[in-house]
Amino acid sequence: MTKTPVNVTVTGAAGNIGYALLFRIASGAMLGPDQPVRIKMLEITPALKAAEGTAMELNDCAFPLLAGIDISDDPNVAFDGCNFGLLVGAMPRKKGMERADLISANGGIFGPQGKAINDHAADDVRVLVVGNPANTNAVIAAASAPDVPAERFNAMMRLDHNRAISQLAEKTGAKVADIKKMVVWGNHSADQYPDISFCEVEGKAASGLVDEAWLDEYFVPTVAKRGAAIIEARGASSAASAAGAAIDHMHSWALGTPEGDWTTAAVPSRGEYGVPEGLSYGFPVTSDGKEWKIVEGLELSDKTKKQIEFNAKKAQEEIDTVKSLGIMK
Ligand code: NAD
Ligand code: LMR
Repeated sequence: MTKTPVNVTVTGAAGNIGYALLFRIASGAMLGPDQPVRIKMLEITPALKAAEGTAMELNDCAFPLLAGIDISDDPNVAFDGCNFGLLVGAMPRKKGMERADLISANGGIFGPQGKAINDHAADDVRVLVVGNPANTNAVIAAASAPDVPAERFNAMMRLDHNRAISQLAEKTGAKVADIKKMVVWGNHSADQYPDISFCEVEGKAASGLVDEAWLDEYFVPTVAKRGAAIIEARGASSAASAAGAAIDHMHSWALGTPEGDWTTAAVPSRGEYGVPEGLSYGFPVTSDGKEWKIVEGLELSDKTKKQIEFNAKKAQEEIDTVKSLGIMK
């Protein structure tokens, strides 16, 4: 039996990530092969024409699951009835910038969009913030949506999670599918902490397969600074891998995580592992297809505890900056 179409809103639909994302959403890669989708694109007025071009191409693919496309420059229209929102539209950083440098350029986008979600989205709306600095922007959006549970606003740490798995697979010669229980603590910044403490590779503890020096000197900085390395190499911010991670995030959230594994998502902290309440923070999480649950009770090493504490301080500083700029109270 065919399911009722759901509304998927994508902001920044005419941008680079948007172009890599929309076709996969319409193909069923995000919500499954039996879930029709109505795509609602939000763009700024000068980019509406480009969004129309992308819509023409989407139609030309004749995706059986694509139930319709709307394009708007008004968040109140684009988020009307929204079940899944992917907040991508924002400026990407350029060479030499840190993601936090985008706060003043992008922070102002997410308050009004949060309000539009609050006022117009469906009751079951779930939101993933991709636009940088993603974690802080998720907090801004959630703060403008008092009627939507804060847990429904996530920030994307899945790209960092996927990058960490890929690096470990390459090092150990294992298949990515054989790597379980990776976690990237923190926010999507160079201070994040990719942690293999609980990782299994083909059922064996990863910590016995790689040495401390490789972890500290190669693995952690390579994953944490991968975004800058991509900008340096491509001359543009990651797009297809970011879109792939957004698809993975929403797929896990909507369809559930497999038994015996978890993933990383940035969700609001309620103080788990000492992370200050209210930060949008990368934790190990499982999903039952409806909501995330933070994996609790893990025994953290002193090193992991220190890294979490350090990163949380930096993430809190971003929130303080947003407040000092008047973007959020
Ligand atoms: P891009 O410049 O190619 O596209 C951004 C699009 O957003 C443009 O089409 C622009 O017109 C649109 N836009 C700007 N303001 C908007 C608004 N208020 N409403 C709707 N649309 C708006 O950039 P991109 O490469 O697609 O990257 C988008 C964002 O994603 C950047 O902030 C980038 O840093 C971030 N990003 C995050 C991750 C992550 O892991 N969280 C990974 C990669 C990129
Ligand atoms: C990434 O991690 O690739 C993106 O967040 C882009 C960036 O600025 O690093």
